[in-house]
Amino acid sequence: MNHPTSFSSLLLLLLFFSLHSIPSPGLSQPVGARCPPISPPPRPRPFPRVRPRPPLYPPGLKLMPRRPANNPGPLANRARILFIAQELKRNITYDPFNYTPTWVGNNYCLFKGFYCDTVPDLNITGLASIDFNGARFGGAFLNFYRFIRNLPDIAIFHANSNNFSGVISRNINQLRYLYELDLSNNKFLGGFPANVLGATNLTFVDLRFNGYNGSVPTQLFNFDTDILFINNNGFSQRIPSNFGNTPAIYLTLAGNRFTGSIPPTIGRAWNTLKEVLLLNNRLTGCLPYEIGYLTKTTVFDVGSNLLTGPIPQSFGCLASLQFLNLAHNQLYGAIPESLCKIRSAYNYTLSYNFFTQVGTQCRRLIRAGRLHVGRNCIMGLPNQKPASECSLFFSRPRTCRRESSFSFVPCTLSNTSSFDGRLLEEIAAPPPPRTYAALEKPHP
Ligand SMILES: *[C@@H]1O[C@H](CO)[C@@H](O)[C@H](O)[C@H]1NC(C)=O
Ligand SMILES: *[C@@H]1O[C@H](CO)[C@@H](O)[C@H](O)[C@H]1NC(C)=O
Ligand SMILES: *[C@@H]1O[C@H](CO)[C@@H](O)[C@H](O)[C@H]1NC(C)=O
Ligand SMILES: *[C@@H]1O[C@H](CO)[C@@H](O)[C@H](O)[C@H]1NC(C)=O
Ligand SMILES: *[C@@H]1O[C@H](CO)[C@@H](O)[C@H](O)[C@H]1NC(C)=O
Ligand SMILES: *[C@@H]1O[C@H](CO)[C@@H](O)[C@H](O)[C@H]1NC(C)=O
Ligand SMILES: *[C@@H]1O[C@H](CO)[C@@H](O)[C@H](O)[C@H]1NC(C)=O
Repeated sequence: MNHPTSFSSLLLLLLFFSLHSIPSPGLSQPVGARCPPISPPPRPRPFPRVRPRPPLYPPGLKLMPRRPANNPGPLANRARILFIAQELKRNITYDPFNYTPTWVGNNYCLFKGFYCDTVPDLNITGLASIDFNGARFGGAFLNFYRFIRNLPDIAIFHANSNNFSGVISRNINQLRYLYELDLSNNKFLGGFPANVLGATNLTFVDLRFNGYNGSVPTQLFNFDTDILFINNNGFSQRIPSNFGNTPAIYLTLAGNRFTGSIPPTIGRAWNTLKEVLLLNNRLTGCLPYEIGYLTKTTVFDVGSNLLTGPIPQSFGCLASLQFLNLAHNQLYGAIPESLCKIRSAYNYTLSYNFFTQVGTQCRRLIRAGRLHVGRNCIMGLPNQKPASECSLFFSRPRTCRRESSFSFVPCTLSNTSSFDGRLLEEIAAPPPPRTYAALEKPHP
Protein backbone atom coordinates (compact mmCIF):
# COMPACT_ATOMS: atom_id res chain seq x y z
CA MET A 1 0.00 0.00 0.00
CA ASN A 2 1.64 3.20 -1.04
CA HIS A 3 -0.87 5.49 0.60
CA PRO A 4 -1.97 3.55 3.60
CA THR A 5 -3.10 6.58 5.46
CA SER A 6 -5.54 8.05 3.02
CA PHE A 7 -6.65 4.47 2.44
CA SER A 8 -7.56 3.92 6.05
CA SER A 9 -9.30 7.25 6.39
CA LEU A 10 -11.28 6.39 3.30
CA LEU A 11 -12.30 3.16 4.92
CA LEU A 12 -13.39 4.96 8.00
CA LEU A 13 -15.58 7.17 5.92
CA LEU A 14 -16.93 4.15 4.13
CA LEU A 15 -17.67 2.45 7.36
CA PHE A 16 -19.26 5.55 8.76
CA PHE A 17 -21.66 5.67 5.85
CA SER A 18 -22.37 1.98 5.92
CA LEU A 19 -23.23 2.13 9.59
CA HIS A 20 -25.63 4.93 8.89
CA SER A 21 -27.55 3.08 6.23
CA ILE A 22 -28.42 -0.03 8.13
CA PRO A 23 -31.76 -0.98 6.58
CA SER A 24 -30.81 -3.25 3.75
CA PRO A 25 -33.09 -3.56 0.77
CA GLY A 26 -34.88 -6.65 -0.20
CA LEU A 27 -33.24 -9.17 2.06
CA SER A 28 -36.16 -10.18 4.11
CA GLN A 29 -38.72 -10.09 1.34
CA PRO A 30 -41.17 -12.95 1.31
CA VAL A 31 -40.30 -15.27 -1.49
CA GLY A 32 -43.82 -16.09 -2.51
CA ALA A 33 -44.52 -18.45 -5.36
CA ARG A 34 -40.90 -18.80 -6.40
CA CYS A 35 -39.94 -20.50 -3.18
CA PRO A 36 -39.09 -24.13 -3.82
CA PRO A 37 -40.00 -26.71 -1.20
CA ILE A 38 -36.93 -26.29 0.93
CA SER A 39 -36.56 -25.05 4.43
CA PRO A 40 -36.26 -21.27 4.44
CA PRO A 41 -32.75 -19.96 4.47
CA PRO A 42 -31.28 -18.61 7.64
CA ARG A 43 -31.79 -14.92 7.72
CA PRO A 44 -28.65 -12.96 7.24
CA ARG A 45 -27.29 -11.26 10.30
CA PRO A 46 -29.83 -8.51 10.92
CA PHE A 47 -27.46 -5.84 12.14
CA PRO A 48 -23.82 -5.24 11.71
CA ARG A 49 -21.69 -5.50 14.71
CA VAL A 50 -21.01 -1.91 15.53
CA ARG A 51 -17.30 -1.64 15.59
CA PRO A 52 -15.49 1.25 17.15
CA ARG A 53 -13.23 2.44 14.44
CA PRO A 54 -11.64 5.71 15.36
CA PRO A 55 -8.05 5.67 14.22
CA LEU A 56 -6.04 5.59 17.35
CA TYR A 57 -3.85 8.34 16.08
CA PRO A 58 -5.59 11.03 14.02
CA PRO A 59 -5.93 9.96 10.40
CA GLY A 60 -4.04 12.78 8.70
CA LEU A 61 -0.68 11.55 9.95
CA LYS A 62 0.55 15.01 9.24
CA LEU A 63 1.21 14.33 12.84
CA MET A 64 4.60 12.87 12.40
CA PRO A 65 6.99 15.76 12.60
CA ARG A 66 10.51 15.18 11.45
CA ARG A 67 11.93 17.21 14.28
CA PRO A 68 13.46 16.40 17.60
CA ALA A 69 10.83 15.43 20.10
CA ASN A 70 10.41 17.65 23.12
CA ASN A 71 9.26 14.91 25.35
CA PRO A 72 10.26 11.60 23.88
CA GLY A 73 8.47 9.34 26.28
CA PRO A 74 9.37 7.51 29.43
CA LEU A 75 13.03 6.74 29.67
CA ALA A 76 12.38 3.01 29.84
CA ASN A 77 10.53 3.03 26.51
CA ARG A 78 13.19 5.16 24.88
CA ALA A 79 15.93 2.84 26.01
CA ARG A 80 14.02 -0.18 24.78
CA ILE A 81 13.40 1.29 21.35
CA LEU A 82 16.98 2.43 20.92
CA PHE A 83 18.27 -0.94 22.02
CA ILE A 84 16.10 -2.95 19.65
CA ALA A 85 16.79 -0.56 16.76
CA GLN A 86 20.50 -1.13 17.21
CA GLU A 87 20.00 -4.89 17.41
CA LEU A 88 17.99 -4.87 14.17
CA LYS A 89 20.64 -2.66 12.59
CA ARG A 90 23.33 -5.21 13.43
CA ASN A 91 21.22 -7.97 11.87
CA ILE A 92 20.59 -6.06 8.64
CA THR A 93 23.37 -7.02 6.29
CA TYR A 94 21.83 -5.54 3.15
CA ASP A 95 20.31 -2.05 3.14
CA PRO A 96 20.17 -0.74 -0.42
CA PHE A 97 18.27 2.43 0.47
CA ASN A 98 20.53 3.40 3.36
CA TYR A 99 18.12 3.40 6.25
CA THR A 100 20.46 2.15 8.93
CA PRO A 101 23.20 4.80 8.52
CA THR A 102 20.63 7.29 9.88
CA TRP A 103 19.96 5.14 12.94
CA VAL A 104 22.48 6.94 15.12
CA GLY A 105 22.13 8.98 18.28
CA ASN A 106 19.33 8.97 20.79
CA ASN A 107 16.47 10.57 18.91
CA TYR A 108 14.77 7.71 17.11
CA CYS A 109 12.17 10.16 15.79
CA LEU A 110 14.84 11.14 13.27
CA PHE A 111 15.74 7.61 12.13
CA LYS A 112 14.76 6.87 8.54
CA GLY A 113 11.57 4.77 8.59
CA PHE A 114 10.66 5.76 12.18
CA TYR A 115 7.81 8.24 12.83
CA CYS A 116 6.86 9.74 16.16
CA ASP A 117 3.68 11.29 17.43
CA THR A 118 1.96 12.17 20.66
CA VAL A 119 0.71 9.07 22.40
CA PRO A 120 -3.04 9.69 22.75
CA ASP A 121 -3.56 8.94 26.41
CA LEU A 122 -0.18 9.94 27.77
CA ASN A 123 0.60 13.31 26.16
CA ILE A 124 4.16 12.26 25.49
CA THR A 125 5.93 11.57 22.23
CA GLY A 126 6.05 7.94 21.21
CA LEU A 127 7.12 5.88 18.25
CA ALA A 128 3.83 5.70 16.35
CA SER A 129 4.78 4.26 13.02
CA ILE A 130 7.37 2.19 11.24
CA ASP A 131 7.49 2.44 7.48
CA PHE A 132 9.98 -0.01 5.98
CA ASN A 133 7.85 -0.71 2.91
CA GLY A 134 10.13 -1.64 0.05
CA ALA A 135 13.28 -1.15 2.10
CA ARG A 136 14.47 -4.60 1.04
CA PHE A 137 16.41 -5.20 4.22
CA GLY A 138 18.37 -8.43 3.99
CA GLY A 139 19.87 -10.49 6.73
CA ALA A 140 19.95 -14.07 7.87
CA PHE A 141 17.39 -13.46 10.62
CA LEU A 142 15.41 -10.25 10.94
CA ASN A 143 13.19 -11.11 13.87
CA PHE A 144 9.87 -9.33 13.41
CA TYR A 145 8.31 -10.39 16.69
CA ARG A 146 11.29 -9.44 18.81
CA PHE A 147 11.44 -6.07 17.10
CA ILE A 148 7.79 -5.08 17.29
CA ARG A 149 7.19 -6.17 20.83
CA ASN A 150 9.76 -3.63 21.93
CA LEU A 151 7.83 -0.78 20.29
CA PRO A 152 5.17 -0.20 22.95
CA ASP A 153 3.29 2.68 21.27
CA ILE A 154 3.36 1.42 17.70
CA ALA A 155 0.18 2.06 15.70
CA ILE A 156 1.26 1.41 12.13
CA PHE A 157 3.81 -1.20 11.15
CA HIS A 158 4.43 -1.37 7.42
CA ALA A 159 7.35 -3.52 6.39
CA ASN A 160 6.53 -5.09 3.06
CA SER A 161 9.27 -6.51 0.83
CA ASN A 162 11.93 -7.20 3.40
CA ASN A 163 13.51 -10.27 4.93
CA PHE A 164 11.57 -10.37 8.18
CA SER A 165 10.77 -13.81 9.46
CA GLY A 166 10.39 -15.78 12.65
CA VAL A 167 7.58 -17.06 14.72
CA ILE A 168 5.17 -14.63 16.33
CA SER A 169 5.56 -16.53 19.52
CA ARG A 170 3.18 -14.73 21.81
CA ASN A 171 0.14 -12.60 21.71
CA ILE A 172 0.82 -9.08 20.47
CA ASN A 173 -2.14 -7.58 22.27
CA GLN A 174 0.10 -5.58 24.57
CA LEU A 175 0.56 -3.32 21.53
CA ARG A 176 -2.63 -1.54 22.31
CA TYR A 177 -2.49 1.02 19.51
CA LEU A 178 -1.51 -1.30 16.68
CA TYR A 179 -4.03 -0.94 13.90
CA GLU A 180 -2.18 -1.52 10.66
CA LEU A 181 0.14 -4.44 10.05
CA ASP A 182 1.71 -5.00 6.65
CA LEU A 183 4.13 -7.94 6.52
CA SER A 184 3.54 -8.80 2.90
CA ASN A 185 6.35 -10.13 0.74
CA ASN A 186 8.65 -11.15 3.56
CA LYS A 187 10.08 -14.55 4.49
CA PHE A 188 7.54 -15.88 6.98
CA LEU A 189 7.02 -19.65 6.95
CA GLY A 190 5.00 -22.29 8.73
CA GLY A 191 1.48 -22.16 10.06
CA PHE A 192 -0.77 -19.12 10.21
CA PRO A 193 0.48 -16.67 12.87
CA ALA A 194 -2.49 -17.09 15.17
CA ASN A 195 -0.99 -14.70 17.70
CA VAL A 196 -1.63 -11.82 15.33
CA LEU A 197 -5.31 -12.37 16.09
CA GLY A 198 -4.64 -11.27 19.66
CA ALA A 199 -4.12 -7.70 18.50
CA THR A 200 -7.73 -6.69 18.76
CA ASN A 201 -7.42 -3.20 17.36
CA LEU A 202 -6.11 -4.17 13.94
CA THR A 203 -8.07 -2.84 10.98
CA PHE A 204 -5.56 -3.73 8.28
CA VAL A 205 -3.81 -7.09 8.14
CA ASP A 206 -1.66 -7.83 5.12
CA LEU A 207 0.21 -11.14 5.17
CA ARG A 208 0.19 -11.85 1.45
CA PHE A 209 3.21 -13.15 -0.46
CA ASN A 210 4.84 -15.08 2.35
CA GLY A 211 5.47 -18.78 2.79
CA TYR A 212 2.68 -19.50 5.25
CA ASN A 213 1.06 -22.89 4.86
CA GLY A 214 -1.26 -25.35 6.58
CA SER A 215 -4.75 -24.36 7.57
CA VAL A 216 -6.04 -21.01 8.73
CA PRO A 217 -7.54 -20.96 12.22
CA THR A 218 -11.29 -20.57 12.45
CA GLN A 219 -10.82 -17.50 14.67
CA LEU A 220 -9.49 -15.72 11.59
CA PHE A 221 -13.04 -15.22 10.36
CA ASN A 222 -14.30 -14.00 13.70
CA PHE A 223 -11.44 -11.54 13.82
CA ASP A 224 -12.50 -7.94 13.57
CA THR A 225 -10.58 -6.21 10.80
CA ASP A 226 -11.59 -4.19 7.77
CA ILE A 227 -8.93 -5.49 5.43
CA LEU A 228 -7.58 -9.01 5.39
CA PHE A 229 -5.12 -10.00 2.68
CA ILE A 230 -3.69 -13.51 2.93
CA ASN A 231 -3.36 -14.22 -0.78
CA ASN A 232 -0.32 -15.89 -2.34
CA ASN A 233 0.74 -18.09 0.52
CA GLY A 234 0.52 -21.87 0.70
CA PHE A 235 -2.63 -22.25 2.78
CA SER A 236 -4.38 -25.52 2.15
CA GLN A 237 -7.38 -27.30 3.61
CA ARG A 238 -10.97 -26.25 3.54
CA ILE A 239 -12.18 -22.71 4.12
CA PRO A 240 -13.58 -22.86 7.68
CA SER A 241 -17.35 -22.98 7.87
CA ASN A 242 -17.52 -19.74 9.85
CA PHE A 243 -16.12 -17.92 6.79
CA GLY A 244 -19.14 -15.63 6.57
CA ASN A 245 -18.64 -14.29 10.08
CA THR A 246 -15.87 -12.11 8.74
CA PRO A 247 -16.55 -8.41 9.15
CA ALA A 248 -13.84 -7.65 6.59
CA ILE A 249 -14.71 -5.25 3.80
CA TYR A 250 -11.85 -6.33 1.55
CA LEU A 251 -10.86 -9.97 1.66
CA THR A 252 -8.35 -11.91 -0.45
CA LEU A 253 -7.68 -15.62 -0.12
CA ALA A 254 -6.52 -15.96 -3.71
CA GLY A 255 -3.47 -17.89 -4.85
CA ASN A 256 -3.42 -20.48 -2.09
CA ARG A 257 -4.45 -24.12 -2.12
CA PHE A 258 -7.80 -23.89 -0.37
CA THR A 259 -10.01 -26.90 -1.07
CA GLY A 260 -13.62 -27.83 -0.43
CA SER A 261 -16.64 -25.74 -1.18
CA ILE A 262 -17.48 -22.10 -0.52
CA PRO A 263 -19.18 -22.11 2.89
CA PRO A 264 -22.87 -21.16 2.68
CA THR A 265 -22.30 -18.86 5.66
CA ILE A 266 -20.82 -16.40 3.16
CA GLY A 267 -24.27 -14.79 3.08
CA ARG A 268 -23.82 -13.54 6.63
CA ALA A 269 -21.29 -11.01 5.37
CA TRP A 270 -24.00 -9.19 3.38
CA ASN A 271 -23.72 -5.96 5.28
CA THR A 272 -19.95 -5.56 5.11
CA LEU A 273 -18.22 -7.49 2.36
CA LYS A 274 -17.41 -5.33 -0.64
CA GLU A 275 -14.69 -7.24 -2.45
CA VAL A 276 -13.77 -10.89 -2.16
CA LEU A 277 -11.09 -12.70 -4.15
CA LEU A 278 -10.98 -16.50 -3.99
CA LEU A 279 -9.42 -17.08 -7.40
CA ASN A 280 -6.60 -19.55 -8.04
CA ASN A 281 -7.38 -22.06 -5.34
CA ARG A 282 -8.71 -25.61 -5.53
CA LEU A 283 -12.27 -25.00 -4.48
CA THR A 284 -14.77 -27.67 -5.44
CA GLY A 285 -18.52 -28.16 -5.18
CA CYS A 286 -21.32 -25.88 -6.33
CA LEU A 287 -21.87 -22.18 -5.72
CA PRO A 288 -24.08 -21.74 -2.63
CA TYR A 289 -27.18 -19.65 -3.32
CA GLU A 290 -26.36 -17.62 -0.18
CA ILE A 291 -23.86 -15.66 -2.28
CA GLY A 292 -26.94 -13.81 -3.51
CA TYR A 293 -27.27 -12.10 -0.14
CA LEU A 294 -24.12 -10.07 -0.76
CA THR A 295 -25.89 -6.95 -1.88
CA LYS A 296 -22.95 -4.65 -1.10
CA THR A 297 -20.39 -6.72 -2.94
CA THR A 298 -18.85 -5.04 -5.96
CA VAL A 299 -16.18 -7.64 -6.73
CA PHE A 300 -16.69 -11.40 -6.58
CA ASP A 301 -13.94 -13.51 -8.06
CA VAL A 302 -13.73 -17.30 -7.83
CA GLY A 303 -11.95 -17.80 -11.16
CA SER A 304 -9.61 -20.74 -11.78
CA ASN A 305 -10.97 -23.21 -9.27
CA LEU A 306 -12.75 -26.55 -9.69
CA LEU A 307 -16.27 -25.30 -9.05
CA THR A 308 -19.18 -26.97 -10.78
CA GLY A 309 -22.95 -26.75 -11.00
CA PRO A 310 -25.13 -23.94 -12.38
CA ILE A 311 -25.14 -20.27 -11.37
CA PRO A 312 -27.82 -19.94 -8.68
CA GLN A 313 -30.75 -17.68 -9.62
CA SER A 314 -29.95 -15.74 -6.45
CA PHE A 315 -27.02 -14.11 -8.27
CA GLY A 316 -29.59 -11.72 -9.71
CA CYS A 317 -29.79 -10.20 -6.21
CA LEU A 318 -26.16 -9.04 -6.24
CA ALA A 319 -27.32 -5.49 -6.69
CA SER A 320 -23.91 -3.78 -6.50
CA LEU A 321 -21.88 -6.28 -8.47
CA GLN A 322 -19.49 -4.64 -10.93
CA PHE A 323 -16.83 -7.30 -11.41
CA LEU A 324 -17.70 -10.98 -11.53
CA ASN A 325 -15.18 -13.62 -12.47
CA LEU A 326 -16.24 -17.26 -12.67
CA ALA A 327 -13.87 -18.14 -15.50
CA HIS A 328 -11.88 -21.38 -15.65
CA ASN A 329 -14.18 -23.62 -13.64
CA GLN A 330 -16.58 -26.42 -14.56
CA LEU A 331 -19.82 -24.50 -14.23
CA TYR A 332 -22.67 -25.36 -16.56
CA GLY A 333 -26.31 -24.69 -17.35
CA ALA A 334 -28.06 -21.52 -18.44
CA ILE A 335 -26.68 -18.12 -17.44
CA PRO A 336 -29.49 -16.53 -15.40
CA GLU A 337 -31.08 -13.61 -17.19
CA SER A 338 -31.46 -11.88 -13.84
CA LEU A 339 -27.67 -11.75 -13.53
CA CYS A 340 -27.53 -9.83 -16.79
CA LYS A 341 -30.05 -7.29 -15.51
CA ILE A 342 -27.85 -6.05 -12.73
CA ARG A 343 -27.44 -2.37 -13.33
CA SER A 344 -23.88 -2.14 -12.05
CA ALA A 345 -22.56 -4.92 -14.34
CA TYR A 346 -19.22 -3.76 -15.68
CA ASN A 347 -17.07 -6.82 -16.35
CA TYR A 348 -18.61 -10.24 -15.92
CA THR A 349 -16.29 -12.99 -17.10
CA LEU A 350 -17.73 -16.49 -17.36
CA SER A 351 -15.32 -17.87 -19.95
CA TYR A 352 -13.84 -21.38 -19.89
CA ASN A 353 -16.79 -23.19 -18.36
CA PHE A 354 -19.56 -25.38 -19.78
CA PHE A 355 -22.46 -22.95 -19.93
CA THR A 356 -25.01 -23.88 -22.55
CA GLN A 357 -27.53 -21.03 -22.81
CA VAL A 358 -27.77 -17.26 -22.79
CA GLY A 359 -30.99 -15.24 -23.07
CA THR A 360 -31.76 -11.86 -24.60
CA GLN A 361 -30.55 -9.80 -21.67
CA CYS A 362 -27.24 -11.58 -21.54
CA ARG A 363 -26.81 -11.29 -25.29
CA ARG A 364 -27.19 -7.53 -24.96
CA LEU A 365 -24.55 -7.49 -22.27
CA ILE A 366 -22.25 -9.56 -24.48
CA ARG A 367 -22.70 -7.10 -27.35
CA ALA A 368 -21.95 -4.24 -25.01
CA GLY A 369 -18.65 -5.89 -24.09
CA ARG A 370 -19.55 -6.33 -20.46
CA LEU A 371 -20.15 -10.09 -20.41
CA HIS A 372 -17.54 -12.57 -21.63
CA VAL A 373 -18.64 -16.12 -22.37
CA GLY A 374 -15.88 -17.42 -24.65
CA ARG A 375 -14.90 -21.10 -24.48
CA ASN A 376 -18.21 -22.44 -23.23
CA CYS A 377 -20.76 -24.72 -24.91
CA ILE A 378 -23.25 -22.13 -26.13
CA MET A 379 -24.56 -23.08 -29.56
CA GLY A 380 -24.52 -20.31 -32.13
CA LEU A 381 -21.99 -18.10 -30.33
CA PRO A 382 -18.45 -17.71 -31.65
CA ASN A 383 -15.36 -18.95 -29.86
CA GLN A 384 -16.95 -21.87 -28.00
CA LYS A 385 -15.49 -25.23 -26.96
CA PRO A 386 -15.47 -28.05 -29.50
CA ALA A 387 -18.68 -30.08 -29.42
CA SER A 388 -16.70 -33.19 -28.50
CA GLU A 389 -15.36 -31.58 -25.32
CA CYS A 390 -18.86 -30.47 -24.37
CA SER A 391 -20.49 -33.83 -24.96
CA LEU A 392 -17.75 -35.60 -23.04
CA PHE A 393 -18.35 -33.27 -20.10
CA PHE A 394 -22.11 -33.80 -20.17
CA SER A 395 -21.85 -37.56 -20.62
CA ARG A 396 -21.21 -37.82 -16.87
CA PRO A 397 -24.11 -37.19 -14.54
CA ARG A 398 -23.64 -34.00 -12.54
CA THR A 399 -25.57 -32.88 -9.51
CA CYS A 400 -25.33 -30.41 -6.68
CA ARG A 401 -26.43 -30.80 -3.14
CA ARG A 402 -29.49 -28.69 -2.23
CA GLU A 403 -30.55 -28.80 -5.87
CA SER A 404 -33.77 -26.87 -5.29
CA SER A 405 -31.91 -23.96 -3.69
CA PHE A 406 -30.59 -23.01 -7.11
CA SER A 407 -33.92 -21.49 -8.09
CA PHE A 408 -34.31 -19.66 -4.81
CA VAL A 409 -34.34 -15.86 -5.14
CA PRO A 410 -33.90 -14.01 -1.86
CA CYS A 411 -34.89 -10.60 -3.24
CA THR A 412 -37.49 -9.02 -5.49
CA LEU A 413 -36.26 -8.97 -9.03
CA SER A 414 -37.62 -6.32 -11.33
CA ASN A 415 -39.34 -7.57 -14.47
CA THR A 416 -37.88 -4.99 -16.76
CA SER A 417 -34.29 -4.69 -17.68
CA SER A 418 -32.34 -2.04 -15.95
CA PHE A 419 -29.49 -2.51 -18.41
CA ASP A 420 -29.59 0.47 -20.73
CA GLY A 421 -27.63 -1.12 -23.55
CA ARG A 422 -24.67 1.21 -23.41
CA LEU A 423 -21.36 -0.10 -24.64
CA LEU A 424 -18.45 -0.63 -22.32
CA GLU A 425 -16.55 2.24 -23.93
CA GLU A 426 -19.41 4.63 -23.31
CA ILE A 427 -19.60 4.22 -19.57
CA ALA A 428 -17.20 5.52 -17.01
CA ALA A 429 -15.21 2.69 -15.49
CA PRO A 430 -15.98 2.18 -11.83
CA PRO A 431 -13.10 2.93 -9.50
CA PRO A 432 -10.56 0.14 -9.78
CA PRO A 433 -11.13 -2.55 -7.18
CA ARG A 434 -8.91 -2.36 -4.12
CA THR A 435 -8.29 -6.05 -3.89
CA TYR A 436 -6.97 -6.70 -7.39
CA ALA A 437 -3.96 -4.55 -6.57
CA ALA A 438 -3.24 -6.96 -3.72
CA LEU A 439 -2.65 -9.73 -6.25
CA GLU A 440 0.47 -7.94 -7.40
CA LYS A 441 3.56 -8.47 -5.35
CA PRO A 442 4.54 -5.24 -3.63
CA HIS A 443 7.93 -4.08 -4.86
CA PRO A 444 8.52 -7.13 -7.07
C1 LIG B 1 0.93 18.06 26.98
O1 LIG B 1 2.29 18.35 27.31
C2 LIG B 1 2.73 19.66 26.95
C3 LIG B 1 4.18 19.82 27.32
O2 LIG B 1 4.90 18.66 27.13
C4 LIG B 1 1.88 20.73 27.65
O3 LIG B 1 2.26 22.01 27.19
C5 LIG B 1 0.43 20.48 27.34
O4 LIG B 1 -0.35 21.38 28.07
C6 LIG B 1 0.01 19.07 27.69
N1 LIG B 1 -1.36 18.83 27.26
C7 LIG B 1 -2.24 18.21 28.02
C8 LIG B 1 -3.62 18.06 27.46
O5 LIG B 1 -1.97 17.79 29.12
C1 LIG C 1 16.62 -13.81 3.84
O1 LIG C 1 16.24 -14.79 4.81
C2 LIG C 1 16.46 -16.12 4.42
C3 LIG C 1 15.97 -17.02 5.55
O2 LIG C 1 14.75 -16.63 6.02
C4 LIG C 1 17.93 -16.35 4.13
O3 LIG C 1 18.14 -17.67 3.70
C5 LIG C 1 18.39 -15.37 3.06
O4 LIG C 1 19.77 -15.50 2.87
C6 LIG C 1 18.07 -13.95 3.47
N1 LIG C 1 18.39 -13.04 2.39
C7 LIG C 1 19.23 -12.03 2.51
C8 LIG C 1 19.41 -11.16 1.30
O5 LIG C 1 19.81 -11.80 3.55
C1 LIG D 1 19.13 -10.66 15.48
O1 LIG D 1 19.81 -11.89 15.23
C2 LIG D 1 19.93 -12.73 16.36
C3 LIG D 1 20.78 -13.92 15.96
O2 LIG D 1 20.19 -14.63 14.91
C4 LIG D 1 18.56 -13.14 16.83
O3 LIG D 1 18.65 -13.94 17.99
C5 LIG D 1 17.75 -11.89 17.17
O4 LIG D 1 16.43 -12.26 17.50
C6 LIG D 1 17.71 -10.95 15.97
N1 LIG D 1 17.05 -9.71 16.36
C7 LIG D 1 16.36 -8.95 15.53
C8 LIG D 1 15.69 -7.74 16.08
O5 LIG D 1 16.25 -9.22 14.35
C1 LIG E 1 -7.85 -1.24 21.72
O1 LIG E 1 -8.09 0.12 21.87
C2 LIG E 1 -8.90 0.47 22.97
C3 LIG E 1 -9.07 1.95 22.95
O2 LIG E 1 -9.57 2.37 21.73
C4 LIG E 1 -8.26 0.03 24.26
O3 LIG E 1 -9.13 0.28 25.32
C5 LIG E 1 -7.97 -1.45 24.19
O4 LIG E 1 -7.26 -1.83 25.32
C6 LIG E 1 -7.16 -1.77 22.95
N1 LIG E 1 -6.98 -3.20 22.80
C7 LIG E 1 -5.97 -3.84 23.31
C8 LIG E 1 -5.89 -5.30 23.02
O5 LIG E 1 -5.12 -3.30 23.96
C1 LIG F 1 4.76 -25.90 5.95
O1 LIG F 1 6.05 -25.37 5.72
C2 LIG F 1 7.02 -25.87 6.61
C3 LIG F 1 8.31 -25.09 6.41
O2 LIG F 1 8.45 -24.64 5.10
C4 LIG F 1 7.19 -27.37 6.38
O3 LIG F 1 8.16 -27.90 7.26
C5 LIG F 1 5.84 -28.04 6.62
O4 LIG F 1 5.93 -29.42 6.32
C6 LIG F 1 4.76 -27.41 5.77
N1 LIG F 1 3.46 -27.93 6.18
C7 LIG F 1 2.48 -28.20 5.34
C8 LIG F 1 1.20 -28.68 5.92
O5 LIG F 1 2.59 -28.04 4.13
C1 LIG G 1 -12.50 -8.42 -17.08
O1 LIG G 1 -12.23 -9.38 -16.08
C2 LIG G 1 -11.37 -10.42 -16.51
C3 LIG G 1 -11.29 -11.45 -15.39
O2 LIG G 1 -11.06 -10.88 -14.14
C4 LIG G 1 -10.03 -9.83 -16.86
O3 LIG G 1 -9.17 -10.85 -17.32
C5 LIG G 1 -10.21 -8.79 -17.95
O4 LIG G 1 -8.98 -8.16 -18.22
C6 LIG G 1 -11.23 -7.74 -17.54
N1 LIG G 1 -11.51 -6.87 -18.64
C7 LIG G 1 -11.68 -5.54 -18.49
C8 LIG G 1 -11.99 -4.77 -19.71
O5 LIG G 1 -11.60 -5.00 -17.39
C1 LIG H 1 -43.72 -9.42 -13.18
O1 LIG H 1 -44.26 -10.37 -14.10
C2 LIG H 1 -45.21 -11.28 -13.54
C3 LIG H 1 -45.65 -12.28 -14.59
O2 LIG H 1 -44.70 -12.40 -15.60
C4 LIG H 1 -46.40 -10.50 -12.99
O3 LIG H 1 -47.32 -11.40 -12.37
C5 LIG H 1 -45.93 -9.48 -11.98
O4 LIG H 1 -47.01 -8.69 -11.54
C6 LIG H 1 -44.82 -8.58 -12.57
N1 LIG H 1 -44.28 -7.71 -11.55
C7 LIG H 1 -44.08 -6.42 -11.73
C8 LIG H 1 -43.49 -5.67 -10.58
O5 LIG H 1 -44.31 -5.87 -12.78
